[in-house]
Amino acid sequence: MPYKAPRGTQDILPGKIPIWRYVENTARRVCELYGYQEIRPPIFEDTNLFTRSIGAGTDIVEKEMYTFKGEKGGTSITLRPELTAPVVRAYLEHHLHKDKKFQKLYYLGPLFRHERPQKGRTRQFHQLGVEALGSYDALLDVEVIDLALIYFKTLGLDDYKLKINSIGCPTCRTKYRDILKRELTKSKPQLCEDCKKRFDRNVFRILDCKNQRCYEITTKITPLKDYLCQDCKDHFAKVSKGLQDNKIEYILDPHLVRGFDYYTKTIFEITHPVLGAQDALCGGGRYDNLVAELGGPEIGAAGFAIGLERTILVLESKNLGQADKEVDKLKVFIAAIGENTRPYGFRLLNELRRRNIAADMDYEDRSIKAQMRLADKLKTEYVIIVGPEEMNKQTVKLKSMDSGQEKEISRQNIFDLIT
Ligand code: HAM
Repeated sequence: MPYKAPRGTQDILPGKIPIWRYVENTARRVCELYGYQEIRPPIFEDTNLFTRSIGAGTDIVEKEMYTFKGEKGGTSITLRPELTAPVVRAYLEHHLHKDKKFQKLYYLGPLFRHERPQKGRTRQFHQLGVEALGSYDALLDVEVIDLALIYFKTLGLDDYKLKINSIGCPTCRTKYRDILKRELTKSKPQLCEDCKKRFDRNVFRILDCKNQRCYEITTKITPLKDYLCQDCKDHFAKVSKGLQDNKIEYILDPHLVRGFDYYTKTIFEITHPVLGAQDALCGGGRYDNLVAELGGPEIGAAGFAIGLERTILVLESKNLGQADKEVDKLKVFIAAIGENTRPYGFRLLNELRRRNIAADMDYEDRSIKAQMRLADKLKTEYVIIVGPEEMNKQTVKLKSMDSGQEKEISRQNIFDLIT
């Protein structure tokens, strides 16, 4: 084939639509159960929005964004690599905070990151995300974590693990950055090549390096939680208590850091062992400074995003979500005997559709036998057979595919029999 889908992208073919609808419909249902409303920001945004929010020294901004020239003046545009910043931008641009300061929003849609493709990692992928803007309440952190877990549970998944940590506020982080560098200086030559670069650029990312040697080095480092300021400590204690009170199991992971600069205090990830190296199904946390950073008021916020391709990988490995009832099945197939009866059948077909009855007919010049075989393959409930005789009498033959029974009825009576 001369043309293929670009590397790192995939076509979602009709056979996969039921499972996609299953994850999307469940997402809408669960988010709305928790009082979140849907928002749909554009696919591309001003590049500065992402540089400013995600952070200039992060992997995403440094090497993973699809960026191109925008308007004549040379503004720079980027395909969204995440949706937290676009949602905050929309919240501020449309003054949603003036209407009601506290807003709970969710989204579903595609994102783009120029990463090296592998299992569970593509260049175009989809997320379900929530952003709750306008509150510093520690119980909100618990709510968003709970929402993500209930989503997975509703889908029928198990075996997932919740890891949490606190990344503190900029004050604790600045202090800890120096401590980290000091404690890591001696071991720097033993770090992997990537971490040697991270040492100056983004020393926190060394903490979650998957390399065994780096892992062993960092386990000996005093964890950030020991350096949190009182406010961050109190907040984390409230979140931990909230999780315990609600019987939400979690692992306190001092290695957990996230690849975005906007996080403050609570951060979390939900992983699943089926996924292998790219095992994160969900990532999120609190970001109390982002709204002000993007020109808005000082308000707290928390959210997460779930990767839908990864969720589907896990569902498929468990044979779940294959039969979503909401995919419309054809109810009626119209089989026409001979070319001259097709317009008669076609008019009937459209009348059925106008009454919300899913119906179809043949457009490939099939024999009547082949049309019946096709109806069988499509698993329709009824076949309406129209031949020259029926056309003259303004009748049809109605065949129930279940019982195999066939009867001739007047054209007008069809709609009473098929509902
Ligand atoms: P993130 O951790 O970058 O967070 O992405 C969230 C989830 O998206 C990941 O856990 C993973 O399931 C999926 N994902 C990420 N990259 C890829 C990829 N290349 N291919 C397939 N799936 C992928 C965020 O995006 C933050 N905006 C989350 C957030 C919302 N934090 C607060 N609010």
